[in-house]
Amino acid sequence: MNRREIVLAPIVHVLGARPNFVKAAPVIGALDAAGAEQAVVHTGQHYDARMSEIFFEELGLPEPDVNLGVGSGSHAAQTAALMTGLEQEFTSRSPALVIVYGDVNSTIAAALVAAKLHIPVAHVEAGLRSFDMTMPEEVNRRLTDQLSDLCFVTSPEAVGHLANEGVAVERAHFVGNPMIDTLLANLDAFDTDRVRTDHALPDRYVLATMHRPANVDDPATAAALVTHLHGVADLTDLVIPVHPRGRANLLAAGLDTHPGVHILEPLGYIDFIAAVRGAATVVTDSGGLQEETTILGVPCLTVRPNTERPITITHGTNRLVTFEELVPAARKALEGGAGGSDRKPPLWDGQAGPRIAEVIMEFLGE
Ligand code: UD1
Repeated sequence: MNRREIVLAPIVHVLGARPNFVKAAPVIGALDAAGAEQAVVHTGQHYDARMSEIFFEELGLPEPDVNLGVGSGSHAAQTAALMTGLEQEFTSRSPALVIVYGDVNSTIAAALVAAKLHIPVAHVEAGLRSFDMTMPEEVNRRLTDQLSDLCFVTSPEAVGHLANEGVAVERAHFVGNPMIDTLLANLDAFDTDRVRTDHALPDRYVLATMHRPANVDDPATAAALVTHLHGVADLTDLVIPVHPRGRANLLAAGLDTHPGVHILEPLGYIDFIAAVRGAATVVTDSGGLQEETTILGVPCLTVRPNTERPITITHGTNRLVTFEELVPAARKALEGGAGGSDRKPPLWDGQAGPRIAEVIMEFLGE
């Protein structure tokens, strides 16, 4: 029996939000090479061309077989719409396996619907924990892992987190980091000179991204954050591609009134990582960017009280900072005193996609 004959029903990938696309590309590519039948369901959680379409084009992702067009809403409204749409899709497609990525609302919605339909679930990027249940992502991660037959782990400590929560050890597979597969596969495309010219960036700059609800949803918190970002811009130019979530509050707080602040629209993957690669320092509250800066060797100041990715601190360039610590930490990083580790996280070698595909083909062949 060859591998194509083993997999009769398609593997369905559920993708919804920007970071999902970056993680899925190497998994879909490796499963394709293994001869798997696949379908891509885009939930439409992210729908702006700059948040979605451009990633499909740049990463060579297949056109989604369907886009559910769920869009934005409160957590309950969005998750309910995701579940209703996904139930119909899964019922009509009868997948052999549903693959979900990361920790967004599309991830938990798909895992919950699949589990109730008795369809096996694979979770890519399982076991990460911030231990902060005020973050919607932490709720999504914990529950998704409980529902997953295959837990693909990017970082060794995640295996322990899963075990502590009663996830059977056979379900956890430490495979490396598919987001880093995508980064390494595109290294030659991240042209820092071109991105400087195309987006009129200064020679030396700090690149910032801010979109966590805890930092941008409350106008008073967003205003305090803007004061500290202006403090960074006093040191050197600050380039900030603005996620739609924080846009209104950050601009209402006068983010763009400092002459050293350069506001950009959300960038596509290639331009964004090129801008990161060319930055003197990164200031962020993103999850994935903590990992990408670790591999690119760019100092990263994460404006959060915790991280679900501690390996980027022990084996990378990441450092957690409070609002008050941000400007002194940026000054130190710009002076070259940020420290950081030369060790790289184990298995972040560009081969996570093939490792995941191998486990999946074996699982489906049983
Ligand atoms: C979501 C994820 C978050 C992830 C982030 C990456 C959840 C709970 N959160 O947050 O973990 O880090 O994606 O970007 O799933 N909007 C647009 N255009 C879009 C998408 C969103 O304008 O294409 C605006 C809407 O006003 C929307 C808001 O952004 O209400 C938030 O979008 P949503 O998908 O709910 O969460 P994100 O903040 O993007």
